[in-house]
Amino acid sequence: MSAGPVAVVGAGTMGHGIAYAVALAGFDVRLTDTRSDAIPLAIRRIGDLLQGGVKRGKVNEADLSAVAARLRPERELSAAVREADVVIEAVVEDLGVKQRLFVELERTAPAEALLATNTSSLSVAAIADAVRDPSRVVGLHFFNPVHAMKLVEIVRHPRAAAAAVERAVAFARALGKEPIIVNDSPGFASSRLGLVLGLEAMRMLEQGVASAEDIDKAMELGYNHPMGPLKLTDLVGLDVRLAIADYLYRTLEEPQFEPPQLLRDKVAKGELGKKTGKGFYAWGG
Ligand SMILES: NC(=O)c1ccc[n+]([C@@H]2O[C@H](COP(=O)([O-])OP(=O)(O)OC[C@H]3O[C@@H](n4cnc5c(N)ncnc54)[C@H](O)[C@@H]3O)[C@@H](O)[C@H]2O)c1
Repeated sequence: MSAGPVAVVGAGTMGHGIAYAVALAGFDVRLTDTRSDAIPLAIRRIGDLLQGGVKRGKVNEADLSAVAARLRPERELSAAVREADVVIEAVVEDLGVKQRLFVELERTAPAEALLATNTSSLSVAAIADAVRDPSRVVGLHFFNPVHAMKLVEIVRHPRAAAAAVERAVAFARALGKEPIIVNDSPGFASSRLGLVLGLEAMRMLEQGVASAEDIDKAMELGYNHPMGPLKLTDLVGLDVRLAIADYLYRTLEEPQFEPPQLLRDKVAKGELGKKTGKGFYAWGG
């Protein structure tokens, strides 16, 4: 579909994963970041993903050199986006930073380039409002780890052009992903629904309905979820989930998003899940 390269701005957790998935799908990629040490780290992580892919039989020898050839790190944003057909922003989750970046993207990327944000919680409309032509801005919400997760949420804000949304859908499919279209609203579809399940599981634990293991098993074995909601919260981070719950409760003002006391207490104690060794489960080091 696109002739020019795909620019990925921000080479952190998501940016390196997106760059890998896009290069593996056959696109030329320009990867940039404002932090000088971020790019070499991202390139190493992409190397690890490739090696992992080879081990699992998902990547062959030809892919190894092809991905390396398609992936070009750029120090300067302007060089990264100059010829881009699609720009994917994956920088820190801060509205001001993203708005300033989009102003810069509008100035430096080709006028016909699709401008996409990977924000997981901010209003895509608010990001798009920063530029003169918001019609070409969409949300392209990838999931972590990008190479393993099939879903991409295409977030449509009120001023997005239908053609831009269609391009985003086609692009996601070209990556081998399964896109869904969601109108811009807090938590989109995935976080809003996933969070309710997680918070309800915590309330059930608070009320002594069942143990954490058995609540998780109810979803794993009864509904074929690959992982129960409490274990998933441990992996995502209890602090991250609390921040999302606070945000959704504030913006949607619905009782199901009110963070349970148990979640607040655990976060206050530093029990943030796998990353601190303890959340709803103990994680051996
Ligand atoms: N981590 C996740 O599980 C996840 C999942 C889906 C979406 N997201 C979203 O993806 C985005 C990135 O998250 P992350 O977890 O990869 O963060 P991260 O902190 O790992 O990476 C962000 C990178 O952006 C760089 N950066 C910051 N400002 C920049 C700028 N102006 N120009 C270029 N680079 C800049 C930083 O140096 C850093 O390397 C956020 O919007 C986040 O909400 C994250």
